[in-house]
Amino acid sequence: MEPNPLMTPYKMGRFQLSHRVVHAPLTRQRSFDNIPQPHAILYHSQRASEGGLLIAEATGISNTAHGYPNTPGVWTKEQVEAWKPIVDAVHEKGGIFFCQIWHAGRVSNCEFQPNVQAPISSTDKPLAPQMRSNGVDVALFSPPHRLTTKEIPQIVDDFRVAARNAIEAGFDGVEIHGAHGYLIDQFLKDHVNDRTDKYGGTLQNRCRFALEVVEAVVNEIGADRVGLRLSPYANYSESGDSNPEALGLHMANSLNKFGLCYCHMVEPRMIKVGEKVETPHSLLPMRKAFKGTFMVAGGYDREEGNKVISSGYADLVAYGRWFLANPDLPRRLELNAPLNRCMFGQEPVGYMTIDELQALERHLELWMYNIRSAKMQIMFEEIQLLKNKEGILKVSNEILRGKIVEQTEISAAYLLSMQNGMFNF
Ligand SMILES: Cc1cc2nc3c(=O)[nH]c(=O)nc-3n(C[C@H](O)[C@H](O)[C@H](O)COP(=O)(O)O)c2cc1C
Repeated sequence: MEPNPLMTPYKMGRFQLSHRVVHAPLTRQRSFDNIPQPHAILYHSQRASEGGLLIAEATGISNTAHGYPNTPGVWTKEQVEAWKPIVDAVHEKGGIFFCQIWHAGRVSNCEFQPNVQAPISSTDKPLAPQMRSNGVDVALFSPPHRLTTKEIPQIVDDFRVAARNAIEAGFDGVEIHGAHGYLIDQFLKDHVNDRTDKYGGTLQNRCRFALEVVEAVVNEIGADRVGLRLSPYANYSESGDSNPEALGLHMANSLNKFGLCYCHMVEPRMIKVGEKVETPHSLLPMRKAFKGTFMVAGGYDREEGNKVISSGYADLVAYGRWFLANPDLPRRLELNAPLNRCMFGQEPVGYMTIDELQALERHLELWMYNIRSAKMQIMFEEIQLLKNKEGILKVSNEILRGKIVEQTEISAAYLLSMQNGMFNF
C-alpha cells in the first residue's frame, strides 16, 4: 500500500492523535441567540474520529464579540451548558475538541452590539461595506470605537474567562482566533493598526495585544491546552500587512516562550477563502522558527497534505471545505476514497447550472432526512424547491425555530453559502 503520512499518529503535547487530519474551525451561524444548538451534536459527532482533532467554529468571548447573526458564544452559563452535550458527543467518538475563541472587533455592526454601541477595534477607521459570501447581500459595518489603552486589559480578560468557560464546557483546549481580520488581527496588521500607544507602531507593539491574550489564557488553563491561529498573509476585511513574513516570524518566535499546544497558520495562498493565489511565499520560515506543533491550513487536498507531512513542513493539516462536505474525511483520505465536492464557496456567484441544482436537491433531501432522524428542534414544515429556466431557486420555508421566513427568491449561490449550516449538521 502507498504510504499515507496523513494517517500516521502524532503526539501533540498531552494529546495522542491517531492521524493528522484536523477539522478546521468553520462558522455555521446556526447558534440562535448565540447559544449552541442540539443539532451541532450531530454535525460534530459525525466529523469526530478516534484520536482526531476537531476545532469548533469561531465562538464569541463576550457580548461585544459578534459580527454575524447566530454565531455561538462561550461567555454565559447558558452557553457553557449548551456546549456540554456537543463536546460530550465528540468525546464519545474518541475525538479531541478545541473551541476557537473569537472577537470580531470592527468586523461588526452596532446592531450586534449591546445598547447598539459601536464595535471595538484597535482603530477608529471604518470598514468599507463588503459583499457577503452569498454574492447578494452587502454587509455594512459601523465605525468602530478605538479601544483606549486602559480598556484593553478588560478585553484580554474576556479571552481568559472565555477560555476557562470552554474548559468548563468540557473542551480539551482552546484555539485563540488571531486570524482573518478579526480583533487580534486588527492589532497585528499595520494596514489597520494606526495606534500611537504601546499597542501600535512597531512590530513588537502591534503584537503586544495578541501576546497578552496568549499569556492570560495560558496562565488560566495551561499552555498545553492552548493553540493560536494566525493568517499573516491574509487580507480579510482590509487587514493586510506590509511585511507578513516579519509578522509571522515575530509571532512564531515570541510564542516559543509559552510552550503552546500548537501554532496554526493559514497558507499565504489563501488571501481569502476560495481565492487560492499563486505566491512565492510559504510558511516554512515560521515552521522553522516555532518550536512546537505546527498546523497548516488553506487549500489542502489529500496529495498535498501527505506531501507536507512527509517533508516535515507541517505536523498537522486542517481541512475546511473538504470536511464540511465529507463528515468521514479522515477515513476517506485513508482509503483514498472519492470526496464529495464542497458546495460552499464564493463561486459561482450568481446562479448555478441545472446539474448543480440537481446535486443541491439531493443535498436537501439528505438534510431533511437528517432533521427527521435526529428529531431536530428546528421546525421545517415545508420546503418547496422549484427551479426555473435560469436556475433560480424558490424556497418556501418555515425555519429558525418556527420563525416564518417569507417566500424568497434567492440565488442558488446563497443557498450554497448557507450549506455549512443548512445542509451539514
Ligand atoms: C463556511 C466556512 C466557515 C469558516 N469559519 C471559520 C471560522 O469560524 N474560524 C476560522 O478561523 N476560519 C474559518 N474558516 C476558514 C477555514 O477554517 C479554513 O481556513 C479555510 O476554509 C481554508 O481551508 P480549506 O481550503 O481546507 O477550506 C471558514 C471557512 C468556511 C468555508
